[in-house]
Amino acid sequence: MTDTVSSLLAEIADIGRDPARGGYTRPVHSDAEHILREWFVGHATARGLDVERDRNGIIWAWAGGVGPDAVVTGSHLDSVPGGGAYDGPLGIASALVAFDQLVARGVGGRPRAIAVFPEEEGSRFGVACLGSRLLTGALDPDRARSLVDSEGTTLAEVASRNGLDPRHLGPDPETLGRIGTFLELHVEQGRGLVDLGEPVAVGSSILGHGRWRFSISGEGNHAGTTLMGDRRDPMVAAAQTIVLVKTVARSIPDARATVGRLVPVPGGTNVIASRVDLWLDLRHPEDALTRYLVDEIASRAAAVAAEEGCTVEVTEESYSPTVDFDARLQDQLCAVLPQAPRLSTGAGHDAGVLKQHVPTGMLFVRNPTGVSHAPSEQVEDADAEAGALALAACLEMLATA
Ligand code: GLV
Ligand code: MN
Ligand code: MN
Repeated sequence: MTDTVSSLLAEIADIGRDPARGGYTRPVHSDAEHILREWFVGHATARGLDVERDRNGIIWAWAGGVGPDAVVTGSHLDSVPGGGAYDGPLGIASALVAFDQLVARGVGGRPRAIAVFPEEEGSRFGVACLGSRLLTGALDPDRARSLVDSEGTTLAEVASRNGLDPRHLGPDPETLGRIGTFLELHVEQGRGLVDLGEPVAVGSSILGHGRWRFSISGEGNHAGTTLMGDRRDPMVAAAQTIVLVKTVARSIPDARATVGRLVPVPGGTNVIASRVDLWLDLRHPEDALTRYLVDEIASRAAAVAAEEGCTVEVTEESYSPTVDFDARLQDQLCAVLPQAPRLSTGAGHDAGVLKQHVPTGMLFVRNPTGVSHAPSEQVEDADAEAGALALAACLEMLATA
C-alpha cells in the first residue's frame, strides 16, 4: 500500500462537513459516521485484515490471528459538533499506515489489531467513551440501553436499527481479554508539543473528568403578559449558574469547568421556559477536588435558582478519575522514541477507560494551533507521517518484545 496519513484523511475530507460552524459533525450512527466506518472497513479488508464488529459496535481489524495477548491500536471516527478533522480519524489513518509499515518490514510476533470505538465523544448519547465503557463494564448496560439522543431515541433503538442486538450490549470479557497492550495515537489537543518543538509525545496521564446535567425547573409562561416580579424563569437561574461555574472553578488551581450545552424547554422567543437543562463538564487532577467543585457549584446553583423561584436537579452522567498510563509501557515507548517528551492531557480517551484493564499508552502528534473540538484543529502533513512512523516503531517493539 502506498497510502499516507494525509492521503487517507483527504479521502474523507468531504464527509460530515458542518455547514453552520465549519469542521465536521459526525455523531455515532449518523450517515457520516457510517460512511467513515465503511471507509475504514474497505481499507482494512484491502489489507487482508480480518474485520469483525463486536456486540457493542466496536470494529476490530485483525492481523496474525485474533488475540490473545494482541497488540491493539485504534481510536474513533465520531466527532463533536463542528469538530476538527483529526480528533479520532488521525489515530485510525495512522494505524492503517503503521500496519503497512509492519507488513513492509515483515514484522510478525503477537497478533495485532486496529479498533474503532463508537461514540467516543458522547456527542449523541451524552456518555463519552460509550463503546469502551460498555466493553469493560464501566457502564451499566441497562442504563446504556435507555440513554436518549436529542430526538428522544434510545440507544437500544439506534443499536437495533444498526444491526446490533441491544440485549447483548455490555461487558464482553472475551473480547477485552484478547487485548494484551493498547496504544492510541491522537492529535494533541493543546500546545505542549508546539512549545517543546517536537512532533510526537508519549502520553503520561489523562485529567480526571466528568459530566453533570443540571435541570433547572421554573414556571413556563407568556413573555408579554407575565410581570417581571411574577416570574419563575429558569433561564435567568441558568445564566447565573453559568457565571458561578466560572467563579467557583477559578477558585481552585488546575480546575477546568465548561458549560457548552444549554437546552431550554420548550425554547421559544416569546415563551418563558419551563425548564432549562445545562451540562457541566468539569475536570481536575484530584478526585476529591472535583467532588468538592461539583458540590459547591450545585449548592450555589440551588441558591441562585431559589432566588428566582426555581429548583435544580443535578445528575452525574459520567465520571472518570485521573488516569496515569502504565509506567513500564511509557518507559518502553520512550526508549523507542528517545526524542519524544512525556505529556499529560486534559482530554478524555478510550485509552483512559482501557487503562483500568490492560497496559495502555498513548502517543500525541503536534497540533500547531493547539485548538481542538473546533475546525481550526490542525496537523502538518510531515508530523502526521512522523506520528505513523512512531506508532509503527512502537507497535513493532510491542509485537516482538
Ligand atoms: C473528549 O475529547 C473529551 O475530552 O471530552
Ligand atoms: Mn478523540
Ligand atoms: Mn474529542
